[in-house]
Amino acid sequence: MSKKSFYITTPIYYVNDKPHIGHAYTTVAADVMARYKRMCGFDVLFLTGTDEHGQKMEQAAMKKGVKPIELADANMARFRDLWKTLNISNDDFIRTTEERHKKTVLAMFKKMKDAGDIYLGEYEGWYCTPCEAYWTETQILDGNVCPDCGRPTSKMKEASYFFRMSKYQDRILEHIEKHPEFIRPESRKNEIVSFVREGLRDLSISRVNFSWGIPVEGDPDHVIYVWMDALVNYISAVGYFSGDPKAGEFWPADVHLVGKDILRFHTVYWPAMLMSAGIELPKSVFAHGWWTVEGKKMSKSMGNAIDPDWLVKKFSRDSFRYFLLREVPFGLDGDFSFRAMIHRINGDLANDLGNLLSRTLGMVQRYFGGTIPDYNAPEAADEKIYGALPTLADRVEGFLNAQAFNKALTAIWEFVGAMNRYIDETQPWFLAKDPEKKDRLGSVLYTVMDGLRAVSHFIYPFMPETAEAMRKQLAEESPVNVSSPEDLKRVKTLKSGRPIGETKAIFPRIDEKAMLEELSPEKEAAEAPSESGIEYGDFDKVEIKAGKVLAAENVKKSEKLLKLTIDVGDGGRTIVSGIAKTYKPEDLVGLTIAVVTNLKPVKLMGIESRGMVLSATAGDRHNVLKLPDETPAGTRIK
Ligand code: ME8
Repeated sequence: MSKKSFYITTPIYYVNDKPHIGHAYTTVAADVMARYKRMCGFDVLFLTGTDEHGQKMEQAAMKKGVKPIELADANMARFRDLWKTLNISNDDFIRTTEERHKKTVLAMFKKMKDAGDIYLGEYEGWYCTPCEAYWTETQILDGNVCPDCGRPTSKMKEASYFFRMSKYQDRILEHIEKHPEFIRPESRKNEIVSFVREGLRDLSISRVNFSWGIPVEGDPDHVIYVWMDALVNYISAVGYFSGDPKAGEFWPADVHLVGKDILRFHTVYWPAMLMSAGIELPKSVFAHGWWTVEGKKMSKSMGNAIDPDWLVKKFSRDSFRYFLLREVPFGLDGDFSFRAMIHRINGDLANDLGNLLSRTLGMVQRYFGGTIPDYNAPEAADEKIYGALPTLADRVEGFLNAQAFNKALTAIWEFVGAMNRYIDETQPWFLAKDPEKKDRLGSVLYTVMDGLRAVSHFIYPFMPETAEAMRKQLAEESPVNVSSPEDLKRVKTLKSGRPIGETKAIFPRIDEKAMLEELSPEKEAAEAPSESGIEYGDFDKVEIKAGKVLAAENVKKSEKLLKLTIDVGDGGRTIVSGIAKTYKPEDLVGLTIAVVTNLKPVKLMGIESRGMVLSATAGDRHNVLKLPDETPAGTRIK
């Protein structure tokens, strides 16, 4: 039988900083798919890598006083090492600074140009450097703030190559409609469809304001836009334009796994580029949700990003992998908390699975001298166990093909639960008391062992080390990889008469209280407000303007309040201010001072006040913020 192929990718991660659990999430999920397919006899290409060009990288390197490639080398190594720590089985690791990639990007650019889809124009827009994205006048928020991250943007006008993306609007919509599996989950599909329906603009695909990128052939002042550069990695790795047989075998990719933040790039920009170059589209793109940490948004820049390396040291790589995929449905957002992780480890792993294995092997040791018993006294109860396995194999297959990782794990644990109940019902410890029931006792223990052998296959993609440890203890010598998903349905394949392996708890129970205490410094760090404070967008909501004081008088019956008439570009408004102990009315008239102008109006001593005078205040002593006289009334202060 010729092997079937399977090509899965993760996003290529930016190397301007170190990896966190968000990156680990996508990569572990892709690893589970890759391992599952390999186990079932597929020829797999599992690609991950790093996105190393762009202005953000150039600036991050500059800040550190190193060359961009030095920063890329250092951080790329952190990603590569983390994948080793997490037992990621990627077949290739692509860096956008590699020659094979640069060549592919240029070949792609040429294809699109030859198709008449690239032209030189002029770009005017608002650029957000952290997001590497241009925004139009209608997209930016008040104060010229980036609609994605809330940080300030800057206006740019520059020469740029454009890709005629608008031309592909209808074809993209048609493709999405004809291929229901192209964008998943379903809810995200609707989001993309409405975005495309609103109308696609041509895409600016080159930049002239920095140089850390792939220069456009024949016009080296321009470097290729980092997203165009990055998306091409998926075909660079199969040597698409260089006659590599991998291209024929693996393209189109089966799944691009991405976070929900970058779905649009993968389901609109990337397909349009591929259509232009006459290349088949990937079969599907799956967008997973985002993790928060202990209820808070996590990001590299927020300072609360948890280091996966550290987590693996505290727990174990398999329990971390399990938790990531068990806790939250793959398309939804989820929260990472230490307590939830400890509960999963103690409940599902140590208790349900670990205890089942150790108590079964303990009985084999005790009653059969550590040798796998025969299955020669069957009863109806056993058939429930054996009969459930082919159904479980089908369910796991269906769930994994739909990236429903948590459902696959739930189904496996239902089976583990059924085996725990089987032991409780068949009561081998009572059977052991009656020498005449020895055969039956052996058959019960054999059934559980064979069920656990099957479980070792199902959990292998999620927890490869644990699966191998279980197989050793069960004296299962055949490799975990089989030749087709059908093989996973086979039962009673464990060899009787073999001595079991050395038994050891696969998941020691965690003392929750002690562990939480041990973790408390890290937990506090994760829960602490971010180092970076409020978002710029929050600050920007406060409107502060230069105000000219036109008139001032004391408020009757008040020692503290002055009633001021201040022109903040609107001809004058009433503002009541509590600065009467420092200033006499005549001190203020004629001054230009800083005023908050967009507070909700309030009534003070019966007078409506529409704003607030800013002052440096210590007790009753105030120093209003005076501005140079020539500052026009109404000038915004930022
Ligand atoms: O976007 N929860 O790279 P990136 C879950 N270079 N997943 C998260 C996450 C979170 N809190 N934070 C990040 C880029 N991720 C581009 C991609 S692809 C051609 C170019 C994951 O380093 C998620 O998969 O910002 C997201 O899509 C990816 O990290 C973005 O990583």
